[in-house]
Amino acid sequence: MAEESQKWVLMVTAQTPTNIAVIKYWGKRDENLILAINDSISVTLDPAHLCTTTTVAVSPAFNQDRMWLNGKEISLSGGRYQNCLREIRARANDVEDEKRGIKIVKKDWENLHVHIASYNNFPTAAGLASSAAGFACLVYSLAKLMNVQEDNGKLSAIARQGSGSACRSLYGGFVKWVMGKEENGSDSVAVQLVDEKHWDELVIIIAVVSSRQMKQVAPQMLETVETSALIDTGKGSSTKRISYEEAIQNRDFPTFAQLTCADSNQFHAVCMDTSPPIFYMNDTSHRVIGCVEKWNRSEGTPQVAYTSDAGPNAVLIARNRKAATLMLQRLLFHFPPNSDTDLNSYVIGDKSILKDAGIQDIKDVEALPPPPEIKDKVPAQKYKGEISYFICTRPGRGPVLLTDDSHALLNPETGLPK
Ligand code: ADE
Repeated sequence: MAEESQKWVLMVTAQTPTNIAVIKYWGKRDENLILAINDSISVTLDPAHLCTTTTVAVSPAFNQDRMWLNGKEISLSGGRYQNCLREIRARANDVEDEKRGIKIVKKDWENLHVHIASYNNFPTAAGLASSAAGFACLVYSLAKLMNVQEDNGKLSAIARQGSGSACRSLYGGFVKWVMGKEENGSDSVAVQLVDEKHWDELVIIIAVVSSRQMKQVAPQMLETVETSALIDTGKGSSTKRISYEEAIQNRDFPTFAQLTCADSNQFHAVCMDTSPPIFYMNDTSHRVIGCVEKWNRSEGTPQVAYTSDAGPNAVLIARNRKAATLMLQRLLFHFPPNSDTDLNSYVIGDKSILKDAGIQDIKDVEALPPPPEIKDKVPAQKYKGEISYFICTRPGRGPVLLTDDSHALLNPETGLPK
């Protein structure tokens, strides 16, 4: 370590996407290592719209590991953080910045402390898998800072120990979390099925049903889900999995949509079949699904797939831009914003979908005609204010380093939040 100056701070900043499970993980076989009872598959969301940015710094002047999440200091004493820090430190290597005269040798890392600042560009309480993007970004940025040589697959097994779904955020596109067989979890890793360019016609619309702070019930659910009499032991069967993976490879939207919706519905049925029952979806989630089902049926072939995780949000995957435009018109017809809501903050992300739908302001929403699949005799139902906002996005890339200093969340002189 450079002895002449104890003032230096060395930093790395990375950006990591979040992901949505399209084939869910239904339970854990090891609570501490976070090992799943089945393989799961996700689509990575475009970090331009939903991502975590994390800066990690090391300095001989730091006297303890510290972390700030969205500007507030949080404790790193939890097992999940400690697992990630320990596993990354154990793989650290020599690091040298010749220009600044900094040299850290492998064994120094045992005694050096880190500062971590992380920022989610979406509300943590919105139920949008912030811990997936968060732990993936923590592990990825620490690995780069400490010159860890392992590939993203190996890093995914470390991120998994922070949050199960985090392992899938180490890659873009469609990603499989292989459950693995080893007791130590070494083969429970993420693998990329296809990258984000493979199926780039897909458009994803997230209906954020409630941004109220939700109770963290997911870990508890994942223990009890195995007690359900409905749990499908054939969920992981190779035929089912292969046809799903083939549907992705072949961009076969009807098969993809049918299996995605069925997996989500079965997951929620199993949740309701646990004791006590768990209701993640609410009436609004059911109404959104009803709207998609009705339109898909009227078209004769699926235009949009839906899935919901451990919360009431509905994630809709449209087969192409045209389908996304027509879906958004239907959603805005049935779920208009409250009168005091600005349309600009009601539909966020890729606003070009809104433009394609011919909607520029609230008057255009009010003028939307009822979707033709609604029979004249049935009154067109409206549920004003039930949706907090919509996010329009698409499949996105995996983690990247942000080398421009302007992205850093820590001050390069002090290593404290900017
Ligand atoms: N949980 C939610 N957001 C997180 C983040 N950015 N980093 C670590 N844990 C998180």
